[in-house]
Amino acid sequence: MEKELSLEFLRVVERAAIASAHTMGLGDRHKSDQMAVEAMRSEMDSVGMDGTIVIGEGERDEAPMLFIGEKVGAAVRDKTRAFPAVDIAVDPLEGTNLCATGEPNAIVVLAASDRGGLLHAPDLYMEKIIVGPSCKGAVDLDAPVADNLKAIAKRLNRKVEDLVIIVLDRPRHEELINQIRATGARIRLISDGDLSAGISAAVVGTGVHAVMGTGGAPEGVLTAAALRCLNGQILARLVASKPEHHERLAQMGIKDAKRIYATEDLAPGKKIIFACTGVTGGGLLRGVRFFGEGTRTHSLILTYDDRQVRFIDTVHLKKSPDVKVVFY
Ligand code: FBP
Repeated sequence: MEKELSLEFLRVVERAAIASAHTMGLGDRHKSDQMAVEAMRSEMDSVGMDGTIVIGEGERDEAPMLFIGEKVGAAVRDKTRAFPAVDIAVDPLEGTNLCATGEPNAIVVLAASDRGGLLHAPDLYMEKIIVGPSCKGAVDLDAPVADNLKAIAKRLNRKVEDLVIIVLDRPRHEELINQIRATGARIRLISDGDLSAGISAAVVGTGVHAVMGTGGAPEGVLTAAALRCLNGQILARLVASKPEHHERLAQMGIKDAKRIYATEDLAPGKKIIFACTGVTGGGLLRGVRFFGEGTRTHSLILTYDDRQVRFIDTVHLKKSPDVKVVFY
């Protein structure tokens, strides 16, 4: 599955990124998202799979496409052949505001696994701590912030003051931010996009040492899929603070609302493909560039079993007779 489908999914995320990049800076986050959703959905039709959306744009009654349970891929139309059964989690535009305002780090994301390989997470918040391979096993979601930072610093052989921790800039994180500041560690506050931040934490050299705080649960599952491939770690717990949240958990068969999920619980697949393309340029990926005779995209494709990490720079040329490719 990983070998056959990873480049197919590359097409899907590239196309969605190009579509949404046309809306960069227009100030209309819904339009940006809609462009990505429509392009992603339409490109998925040609992927040789028997796919089921397990994390998408919401339930069938609230999302016209890429809804949870939707069947996608070539198997929908072609009943004459057998296609691999695949579960799909998507965030067609992670950082809708980032795209709408032209800020860095908006990305298109898709993860795929063998059936049952991605947790069907409800659309709630999730507390998270995310670290890279060197810090696996060193952190604990319930430990004091200072203890976690000391443990990370020790594993990375540096002072706590030299760490960079990414936190979503939200009022709910005031106490967390104060606690991090009290240790002397440095903080990068981001306005959106804890998924791309989580990927950065697992790649040495990005200058990000951990992500802490509460963000979306679907983004948590997608982060876990990337971290399985990158050998990083996420620890997470759903935030169920209202009666309707508990009802939602019950509907989804989640009995223990306080359970701490490890990377392998969120993305247990034996085969995993994680694909993302930059929409606006950021720390890990360049954004979509339009240059008259074509478009250039920058993507990351990860596979778990094959252990492949591909950074892919694609030039999509216009079909004109005098088209040229510029090397830069
Ligand atoms: P969208 O792309 O759906 O706008 O989500 C962006 C994001 O910042 C995620 O990265 C993060 O997990 C979540 O929103 C945080 O939610 P909130 O904005 O409600 O704090």
